[in-house]
Amino acid sequence: MYSTKKVTDDLIWVGANDRRLAMFEGVYSVPKGVSYNSYLLRDEKTALFDTVDKAVDRRFLENIIHALDGKKLDYLIVQHIEPDHSAGLCDLIARYPDMKIVCNKKTLGFIQQFHEVDIDSRVHIVGEGDTLSTGKHTLRFFMAPMVHWPEVMVTYDATDKILFSADGFGCFGALNGALFADEVDFSRDYMDEARRYYTNIVGKYGPQVQAVFKKLAPHLDRIKYICPIHGLVWRKDIEYILGKYQLWSTYEPEKKGVLIVYGSMYGNTESVAEALAAKLKIQGVKDVLLRDVSNTHVSWLIADSFTYSHIVIACPTYNLHIYPPMAYYLEDMKALNLKNRTCSIIYNGSWAPKCGDLITAFLTDEMTGMTILGEKILITSAATEENVNQLEQLADALVSSLKQ
Ligand code: FEO
Repeated sequence: MYSTKKVTDDLIWVGANDRRLAMFEGVYSVPKGVSYNSYLLRDEKTALFDTVDKAVDRRFLENIIHALDGKKLDYLIVQHIEPDHSAGLCDLIARYPDMKIVCNKKTLGFIQQFHEVDIDSRVHIVGEGDTLSTGKHTLRFFMAPMVHWPEVMVTYDATDKILFSADGFGCFGALNGALFADEVDFSRDYMDEARRYYTNIVGKYGPQVQAVFKKLAPHLDRIKYICPIHGLVWRKDIEYILGKYQLWSTYEPEKKGVLIVYGSMYGNTESVAEALAAKLKIQGVKDVLLRDVSNTHVSWLIADSFTYSHIVIACPTYNLHIYPPMAYYLEDMKALNLKNRTCSIIYNGSWAPKCGDLITAFLTDEMTGMTILGEKILITSAATEENVNQLEQLADALVSSLKQ
């Protein structure tokens, strides 16, 4: 059965939700599901923005047929070719053979890589700043390379002041009957997933996000709707989500606080992490978060690391190397270009404690703008009285650094 939603008088959401997907991209658990958004503009000409993942293509087609209400589909605008947004392309061509495919040159190559379809006879290539009129609406295209794929573009409908933002402003989490961010308690129910989505999927490409903001600067104040390809549509408090994107894309922390990521084989390093957290709270630090690296998917650790200004890394040595789940977390932070954090190190080793030096070298040589605060603390199997004093000093150093 169809399930469409009205965005404006001329625009209809024709996407679908998937609550059965276990791992998005095979990497990220999505316990709250995910939506694949597609939007149909009904004007003198009809235009569809992107398609959906194959898991939901039947509901998507039912939605389009209903929303078209007997009209033909004139344009498919492919803003992003990643298969979760283009799986419906061949079915649409079969159903609407006269439909033009609007995309940029880069997308054209990818369509040919992903889909066996005659594209040349129906493609309409657009470039930076080009426009397409559908009648009442004029659509302007802005290239957004590497946000987060090379072919991505976004579209601005100057008539109704709508930004079709591709993956930008996207979010994990199925839509539970709502379409607009102001219809839900976004900060309670969706913000964590919006952050996890951005930081893990787009996080590496902060400079490219900034470049798109610059291009859109003349329109940013006027935007009335942001329509992403995952998650909720924004029509109120747009500055709120723009503000978050400004922080995330410049790697500025959201909170002055301490994230303690610990790995512990037998509980000794965990006890030290707990003791440090308690000392910080006693000194009045409001935002302290402890995460067990072995028991927290790295995508959450990445989201937390974008959030907090200070990160304490605590783990044992393992095979003369960094404890494997911690090494994976550090590698992922590097891959996503996280920078400009203040880090402290606690390391454990019963006979050859190596990982303190390895973590220091990783943070200073392989990452950007990571400041090491305080002396790294060595735990030899289990904490000693000397360690307790060192933790006290580290807590003091963190507190004074947080005040700067
Ligand atoms: Fe869900 Fe980059 O696409």
